[in-house]
Amino acid sequence: MAQRESWATRTGFILAAVGSAVGLGNIWRFPFATADGGGAAFLVMYLAFIALIGFPAILAEFVIGRKAERNPVGALVAYGGNAWKYVGGIFVLIGVVLLSYYSVIAGWFIRYFLEGFRGSYASHLTSYNGDAQAMFFDISFGMESVILHTVFMALTIGIVALGIRQGIELAVKVMVPALIVLLVGLAVWAFTLEGAGAGYSYYLSPEVGAITANWTELLPAAAGQAFFTLSLGMGVMITYASYLREDRNLAKDGVTIIGFDTGIAFLAGLVVFPVFFAGDIQPDEGGPLTIFVGMTEAFANITGGQILGLVFFGTVVIGALSSAISLLEVVTSYAIDEKGIERWKAATGVGVLIYLIGLPVTYDIIFLEVYDGFIDAVLLVFGALMVMVLVGWVAPKAAVDELEKGIGDLGTTAQAWVWAIRVPIIIVLVVSLYLGIVEY
Ligand code: PFF
Ligand code: NA
Repeated sequence: MAQRESWATRTGFILAAVGSAVGLGNIWRFPFATADGGGAAFLVMYLAFIALIGFPAILAEFVIGRKAERNPVGALVAYGGNAWKYVGGIFVLIGVVLLSYYSVIAGWFIRYFLEGFRGSYASHLTSYNGDAQAMFFDISFGMESVILHTVFMALTIGIVALGIRQGIELAVKVMVPALIVLLVGLAVWAFTLEGAGAGYSYYLSPEVGAITANWTELLPAAAGQAFFTLSLGMGVMITYASYLREDRNLAKDGVTIIGFDTGIAFLAGLVVFPVFFAGDIQPDEGGPLTIFVGMTEAFANITGGQILGLVFFGTVVIGALSSAISLLEVVTSYAIDEKGIERWKAATGVGVLIYLIGLPVTYDIIFLEVYDGFIDAVLLVFGALMVMVLVGWVAPKAAVDELEKGIGDLGTTAQAWVWAIRVPIIIVLVVSLYLGIVEY
């Protein structure tokens, strides 16, 4: 068999993982999840989750992947034995469903990006009597949505088919820096808007009372958002780490990746909330529609809104693409490793299947809510829980040995990691999962 692929450079792996993490979760989902959760109360819970559970969890996925040098199914089996192939199978399934609707949403962003070339957002709104929601439903479903979903999946398949170095690594080297520069530019511009101050204070002043009062809703929501945004709970980080050859300091890499993802979500909030307030839009309305409806109205009301809107929506598309390739890579690596299928055939085959599963979402928004709610509040938390059980209880020694490669003897720190996983983290995840299922 040919030698397994690997990253060409150290930064290649980091950029790919950052590219996976940063995506619709940061720019589309994070603002409305925050608004639904009552603003800063949610933010506090979410940040705690990222630091206390996201970090140990990303390390767990890294060590599993790097040691096994296999796709998530093979990797879980290598660590835990044959029964774990079912858990791995669920990971692959999550990847399939998640990418199927992720691509449709990305298609909507492409559409809003293209609208910016056709004229101002104000003029588009006029043709819908100023009703941004009517505009959303008109342009986001039906044939055009199918076409853009097709375009987005074709791009994703194309990159993954080219392989780790020539495809994914090359793509993220361009996309991730571009994304960061664009978002920083947008945040600086948002700062200059009239009304920015109101946006910042909505976003950044926590009401402590709101956290304790709603914790049964906030906990699963924050857990779901934390795993979604870090691409955890379905094997992306296992897969990406499986292409590492050298023994790097995974803890350092984990901090870098989480730092970028959190920084960029924060930055996206610094763009979205001032724009909402400057355009006189209340942020806590439309759930998944919030960004489309709210930003269109806001861009229609602001001078320079056409260019800014175009840049904003285009930026989101870049972020979505660098995440979509990681989702397809999970499923593709499974087909390559376990079924012996050639890369380009695997990428195309599973890509087309995923494309078909996404089609219902181009037809009715109800499918999005069904898919997204279930994945997020239930499946990703379940997946993360399984990874924790594996590392905490089934194979802690192997996990610690692997973590110490590239770092050196961790002594009690390693024990702290294992014990944090074994009891408190697993309890929190079980509670989140239970609440998430009840809520769903
Ligand atoms: N982390 C991505 C985002 O925030 O948009 C979404 C995602 C990618 C979730 C890959 C899960 C995943 F496995
Ligand atoms: Na993210």
